[in-house]
Amino acid sequence: MIGIKTARAIAHSNIALIKYWGKREGTPGVPDDLNLPAVGSLSLTLDSLRSETEVGPSPSERDAFVLNGEHRGDTMAAKVFRHLDRIWAETGNSGPRPPCQVISHNHLPTSAGLASSASGFAALTLAGAAALELDASPAALSALARRGSGSAARSLWGGFVRLERGHLADGSDCQARPLFPASHWDVRLLIVHTARGPKAIGSTEGMERCRRTSPYYSSWVDTSEGDLAAAEAAIAARDLAALGPVMEQSCFKMHACMMATYPPIIYWNGVTLEVMRAVWEAREAGLEGYATSDAGPHVKVLCLAATAEALAERLAAQPGVLAVESVGPGPNAQVEVFG
Ligand code: PMV
Repeated sequence: MIGIKTARAIAHSNIALIKYWGKREGTPGVPDDLNLPAVGSLSLTLDSLRSETEVGPSPSERDAFVLNGEHRGDTMAAKVFRHLDRIWAETGNSGPRPPCQVISHNHLPTSAGLASSASGFAALTLAGAAALELDASPAALSALARRGSGSAARSLWGGFVRLERGHLADGSDCQARPLFPASHWDVRLLIVHTARGPKAIGSTEGMERCRRTSPYYSSWVDTSEGDLAAAEAAIAARDLAALGPVMEQSCFKMHACMMATYPPIIYWNGVTLEVMRAVWEAREAGLEGYATSDAGPHVKVLCLAATAEALAERLAAQPGVLAVESVGPGPNAQVEVFG
């Protein structure tokens, strides 16, 4: 049997400022497994929210997945092993993949719209590729991570990262690249928790329902490139007043597209909306922050580091808010190989 190494990776989560929502329609003859996005996206990697994943030989000679200390045999485990199969296929080795043990810790809530799949699949890709000795460039590893979860392609780098939509059928031009490192701009993302527990509907299913039934889907897709260009220019100029509106609108366009599907998809709760209103009121009062939210009810607010504490205090006082975390720009993902 082929021996494998043990490798441990840390990848930080990211939040899209310009959102990815929707998958490109399959091209005949090209496997759907490429997971190609219908739109590009631009994100901020986050400092304290991260996944740590170790991949190594399995002592039981069978695939095993342990998440936050708990053995998993569910669909999440199946996704993990399928991802290792993709990595193995890229190595060009013939024959079955050696059984692996995957031990993962998410230092963030899993599947609650806080991008656990981004950091999770990025860490799994790096540790899996190192353990199975895949020799690949960072861009190729990012493209592999994308096949596990679209947002994971962005979590290989710190700071501000852009994932291109690309146009080639084989997905080779759909790659993420770092735009600016974490040190570029001293911003904070306030994560305003408005509920506990996992999200109601997974992003893949939600995206597909949007593509099939939302009358707003094509406008959503058609306006994305303009948003990406405007956001990239605003970040380059460290101009929050220019970035904020385009970032808020990207979020609202995505959620409007979801709400217009049938049956409708609404990830928000009442507190989500009240927090957004509170963000706008605070802005009027001179505390400048801009809201975004993902496939979950939490609100994330982008602001300058100097404003973070006062804004966080104000949002924490909002009825129904469970907690507010202030997170800075995070670093590149890292991997270490043992024996
Ligand atoms: O990468 P996925 O399949 O978990 O989808 C991510 C979708 C959003 O978080 C809503 C937006 C984004 O670009 O991260």
